[in-house]
Amino acid sequence: MNRRDFNLGLLVAMPAVALRLPQLTSPLRVDGRRVNAHLEELARFGKTVEGGTNRVAYGDLDLQARHYVMKLMRGAALEVSIDAAGNIVGRRLGNDARLKPFMIGSHIDSVPQGGSYDGQVGSMGAIEVAQTLSENNVQLRHPLEVVIFQNEEGGTIGSAAISRGLTDKDLAIVTNSKKTIREGIKFIGGDPDALASYVRKKGDLAGYLELHIEQGSILYSEKIDIGVVEGIVGIGWWDVTIEGFANHAGTTPMNQRHDALLAAAKYIEAVNRIVTSIPGRQVGTVGRIQANPGAFNVIPGKVTTTLELRDLDAAKVGLLFDKIQTEVAQIEAATGTRFEFKQVNRSQPALTDERFRRAIDEAAKNQGLTTKLMPSGAGHDAQEIAELCPIGMVFIPSRDGISHSPREFSKAEEITNGVNVLLHSILKLDAMA
Ligand code: HGY
Ligand code: MN
Ligand code: MN
Repeated sequence: MNRRDFNLGLLVAMPAVALRLPQLTSPLRVDGRRVNAHLEELARFGKTVEGGTNRVAYGDLDLQARHYVMKLMRGAALEVSIDAAGNIVGRRLGNDARLKPFMIGSHIDSVPQGGSYDGQVGSMGAIEVAQTLSENNVQLRHPLEVVIFQNEEGGTIGSAAISRGLTDKDLAIVTNSKKTIREGIKFIGGDPDALASYVRKKGDLAGYLELHIEQGSILYSEKIDIGVVEGIVGIGWWDVTIEGFANHAGTTPMNQRHDALLAAAKYIEAVNRIVTSIPGRQVGTVGRIQANPGAFNVIPGKVTTTLELRDLDAAKVGLLFDKIQTEVAQIEAATGTRFEFKQVNRSQPALTDERFRRAIDEAAKNQGLTTKLMPSGAGHDAQEIAELCPIGMVFIPSRDGISHSPREFSKAEEITNGVNVLLHSILKLDAMA
């Protein structure tokens, strides 16, 4: 008797009652192959020769990618609309009309010359969750909203619009695509003049959950499957203008110059020194600089540059800014220049909700995945939405901790794990509240 016959023989010989084995209800799982294929298709809009994605918000490629995403959402049986802020929202009914919706999603815009995973994993993942629920005829108690926030990389603009609202000053800011936010919102089908009507009220949502790549190296280097985010850093952005005096580089003695670029060099060094002078995980960056008029033989008369500061504690960001101002006054005196700082964006640090952390942790462990509680050094739409409702975030590993780069990468299996954790976290939270 071969092994197969033997097994059959055993089954036949067993009494009927023993045959009623516990029903192996296979747990709900997303289609990993499909969600990874969607990510690859999405990456075609703005693919760079380096293998990354260049798809800044409000550009033509952003618009094309948004159409692709809306098609996927309709395929997932979501009722799709664009809100006044230009966010794409796909809705699914719940079976208890008294309950507020859960929101899941992320963003599909990239930084200039960015990667194909930041924001995109969470966006495709949220659609995959909706599709999985639909295909398996699972109706949640709460309504579900899948959201693709517009212009996350320009300062979490779409999520800020629905949480705190955008001011006329915000709408006038020129963003990565060189359009103002007002122009950009019109370009993608929103209505900047109707924004006020789209600000959501505290309590309008039951919660928000976002899947994202870590963008740092903790999970990757420690070989952990899932990060349970404990909080997201607050971010301050300033445009910095340094006024000096443009003059002949050959005839102006060294002690009679007002060199704006020399002042900028001292400023950049000071930012790095001040940010590293106190203990903690705070970071500070000068990420852009332009010298004018920009010639070999002219002393730079004007420099435009930037400042970014981040920390989980808003007070620390304020303290660092003050220290930088004190040092800038000395640089002004030493170089005969004038600095001006104009704040162009500010997001508050946000803590995630304890119940959400627990749901994510349990969902991951039930799937045999390892977890770690960790902060997010990157900014996310979730921190804006934290103004409205409890939030949670699921992280998956980023290879070598690289992000905002064409070399950004997460494995297909890691992505599938993350989407399954997103699905089961929502199922748990839906059953709880
Ligand atoms: O800049 C950030 O932290 C985010 O990736 N937008
Ligand atoms: Mn990013
Ligand atoms: Mn992102």
